[in-house]
Amino acid sequence: MADFYTVKPVDCDVDFETRSLSGKTVIVTGGCSGLGEAYVRALTSAKAAVCIADVDTQAGERLAAELPGSIFIKCDVSVWEDQVEVFRQAAAFSSSGRIDYVIANAGVASPEGVFAYDGDDHEPTKPNSRIIDINLNGALYTTKLAMHYFIKQNGTQQSPSQHDTCCILIGSGAAYLGQVLGRTCPPIYASANTYAVHVPRSAQYSASKWAMRGVMHAMRRMTHHYGSRVNMISPWYVRTKILSKEAFDQVQSVGVEFAEVEDACQCLLRLLSDREINGRSLLVCPRKWAPRGYLDLDLDDYPGSDLLQEIQADQIKNAPVELGLFPE
Ligand SMILES: NC(=O)c1ccc[n+]([C@@H]2O[C@H](COP(=O)([O-])OP(=O)(O)OC[C@H]3O[C@@H](n4cnc5c(N)ncnc54)[C@H](O)[C@@H]3O)[C@@H](O)[C@H]2O)c1
Repeated sequence: MADFYTVKPVDCDVDFETRSLSGKTVIVTGGCSGLGEAYVRALTSAKAAVCIADVDTQAGERLAAELPGSIFIKCDVSVWEDQVEVFRQAAAFSSSGRIDYVIANAGVASPEGVFAYDGDDHEPTKPNSRIIDINLNGALYTTKLAMHYFIKQNGTQQSPSQHDTCCILIGSGAAYLGQVLGRTCPPIYASANTYAVHVPRSAQYSASKWAMRGVMHAMRRMTHHYGSRVNMISPWYVRTKILSKEAFDQVQSVGVEFAEVEDACQCLLRLLSDREINGRSLLVCPRKWAPRGYLDLDLDDYPGSDLLQEIQADQIKNAPVELGLFPE
């Protein structure tokens, strides 16, 4: 069985150029703030045409007005119809008619209550599932639409004339690590009023970010079929609006170093501009762990575990050759 994704870890300590991104059409969900906004700016600097899809109309219209070559499309990623409209408008906006790259970046970390203890004298309260709706269902909608357009544009007959396309999923350190809050931690969410403080971090957030690995694993062996790629960026702490200032301050006060927005942008540009990279997850991290602030975690192929590698090999013996998904 051949491998259809990049098996070797990406060397992240190399120069690269972004000329290939010029004129490409890119969708960035959650592109109005924080990392998403930085991705939008980096992509427009690389002369890509960028569709900013976000719920924040004011910030989106302001950003699009500031950045020639970008448009804002209001979108709640948890609403399927909104995302359908984003892709429709992006294809119309594109000078080639193609959507080349899709960054499924929109994500939230808000109170959800799975781990909240409601008190001895209270009935347990039903958690809300907003994080799953946005981080997981939203990313699944984005992925489905990206794949739809990529297949429609490229067909499924492999050929060198197929245009490069790529879907980037956004994980987190929380996609690889267990997380707990410190005993002295203030409420972690910018909007939290009465949220319990001595609780492990959000179950839904961790679940939604681990889930991105599942999606990446599920896709990476089939993207070659339509000349496409899927990769993942997993940021370590980066100061944005996703958590309250107090929460970031608290994490920093115990000596945790943060990653930088600029390094996340370079990581994105690297993944998009190198057509050889498929099925990899890069961690954006403090520079003490990587000279350029991002590295290939190389955990997704179970290095060091012969048993898991053997079990994985057994699993894909069942691949649907007859559907042409995998050549014999
Ligand atoms: N900042 C970090 O420390 C960190 C760490 C790991 C992963 N991440 C991930 O990076 C991504 C970006 O986070 P950020 O830190 O830039 O956060 P942010 O809060 O600064 O920006 C999030 C953006 O998403 C938009 N958004 C929120 N809900 C939306 C919805 N339903 N539909 C469309 N847009 C919506 C917001 O309006 C905002 O523009 C998220 O997926 C997040 O989980 C961030």
